[in-house]
Amino acid sequence: MIKRTPMVAGNWKMNGSRSLVESFSDTLNTHSFKEVDVVVCPPSGYLSFFVAETFDTGGQDLSAQDNGAHTGDMSGTMLTELGARYVIVGHSERRENHGESNELVADKALKALDNKLVPIICVGESLSIREQNKVNDFVGAQLAAVFDVLTTEQVSKCVIAYEPIWAIGTGKTASPEQAQEVHAFIRETLAGKEKSLAEKTRVLYGGSVKPDNAAQLFAQPDIDGGLIGGASLKTEDFIAICQAAI
Ligand code: G3P
Repeated sequence: MIKRTPMVAGNWKMNGSRSLVESFSDTLNTHSFKEVDVVVCPPSGYLSFFVAETFDTGGQDLSAQDNGAHTGDMSGTMLTELGARYVIVGHSERRENHGESNELVADKALKALDNKLVPIICVGESLSIREQNKVNDFVGAQLAAVFDVLTTEQVSKCVIAYEPIWAIGTGKTASPEQAQEVHAFIRETLAGKEKSLAEKTRVLYGGSVKPDNAAQLFAQPDIDGGLIGGASLKTEDFIAICQAAI
């Protein structure tokens, strides 16, 4: 059985400050996260202020284009020049607020790989989809769009993040069992493409992960860490969550 290195990624969303970046860098660099990959994804304007020695940084989105008339967008090249190694794609807030389709998310994941960035591809259902018992259909369609664009080899270079929309920012964390059930489905879907892909690909859980629930979630066999929102802005909470992943 391949042991997957756990990962904890912080999604600051549109929050933070230069002073928080500096205090975050100072504090995180005093910790050696040997057995967990730690990533911080601030608003892109703050990326170059990070001094990331014991962790990596990432973007929260990227354009599916290389350059041109795309006001306000960031290209993969720009993210790499700012020191990013990862980029979140398809976060539910972008799918919702910016009308990002499954197909566009897949194109963004490919553009990330073209720029040697590791895409963290977000999938996850709304409460309405869950109440209709259509979670697997919905998440399966999100994954199918990725497979329509990326080869199996390319998918193996990605990270998947399952984020039930009803758990994001609500304090209503999915139970370890609820999360494990969907993570197992995602891994079965990956196995359907190639067994080794299912074994190698990290699948993170996101949605109200906190220091007091992280260990139980991360103990699940198909949960390889977390994508953390609110708690990632509190240095000590974020470090506690990283330590729970080891
Ligand atoms: O991308 C992670 C984020 O959506 C989760 O947010 O505040 O529920 O941890 P939060």
